[in-house]
Amino acid sequence: MFMTEELAKIAQAMVAPGKGILAADESSGTIKKRFDSIGVTSTEDSRRDYREMLFRADDAMQNYVSGVILYDETIRQKAKDGTTLVDVMKAAGSIPGIKVDTGAKALAGRNASIEAVTEGLDGLRERLAEYHQLGARFAKWRAVITITDSLPSWNCVKANAHALARYAALCQEAGIVPIVEPEVLMDGAHAGHTIERCYEVTEWTQRVVFQELYDAGVALEGMVLKPNMVIAGQKCAKQASPEQVAELTVKCLKSTVPSAVPGIAFLSGGQSDEQATQNLSLINEIGDLPWKVTFSYGRALQAAALKAWGGKAENVAAGQSAFTHRAKMNSLAALGQWKQNLEKAA
Ligand code: 13P
Repeated sequence: MFMTEELAKIAQAMVAPGKGILAADESSGTIKKRFDSIGVTSTEDSRRDYREMLFRADDAMQNYVSGVILYDETIRQKAKDGTTLVDVMKAAGSIPGIKVDTGAKALAGRNASIEAVTEGLDGLRERLAEYHQLGARFAKWRAVITITDSLPSWNCVKANAHALARYAALCQEAGIVPIVEPEVLMDGAHAGHTIERCYEVTEWTQRVVFQELYDAGVALEGMVLKPNMVIAGQKCAKQASPEQVAELTVKCLKSTVPSAVPGIAFLSGGQSDEQATQNLSLINEIGDLPWKVTFSYGRALQAAALKAWGGKAENVAAGQSAFTHRAKMNSLAALGQWKQNLEKAA
């Protein structure tokens, strides 16, 4: 059996009250896109400089961020002064994590142009052992589910849930807490992607994921779920109110996520910074939830910092303060205490 007690301790620390996770695990392709948007060339050094800026934002890292999801390159990188980036974040009390999937690839078969399955299981046991040695105490695997009128297919939901469960079991065997991330995408061009349709697909996906986790013997006490919120697609004419998003998200999670799971840490998925914060706060305001509910945001934590930095050493302090502000707002949201006027006060 897995070392459940140790895993449970790590999982609880990841979702400690008022703390959440910084997703800084953009693949080389994705970080290039982010850097392109601010006119910065993506090199090993510029990626290091940017991430070092975030990890050295002490106020944010000590008070609002429980852990950071790293990319393979970053977990091996050293800060400018020669300290490993892992040691930089550990010094701030933050737990290092690692993205271990190798990306979503076209799912062979009928719907190959739309549907994907996440790869990365081959050799994962050995990679996890190395990551553990490098300091990682949790990992992430992201599955993506696309909504259309007729999709996702059962084949897609099942294949992704099965891979998530195999990944999670391998993580726990290695003493690493798995973040299980079945993301029902909110982008895409589908007009019928209402909040109700998102609810239906999210509920189905989570149900299948938890069945697969059970079949694989995964200890729920030693994992963190990273779901999407239940929200209308970005191209849907009928958008839902933040209150509706909160209500349906809680309803969906309550009906699918066992209370043995210590925490739920949402992805932001393309929501604006403030929208992601407001929705998280409203979810927590509903209260009486059996799990901690917090953030594991990438874009919604980083967008403002990336812009303020702009690739210039003289803007590091501005980048750190933009990051700290968002981290603080999301920390309040994780406690159900965020208010719009706090944004303006900044
Ligand atoms: P976003 O918050 O930008 O969706 O990223 C979170 C993440 O880690 C996706 O896998």
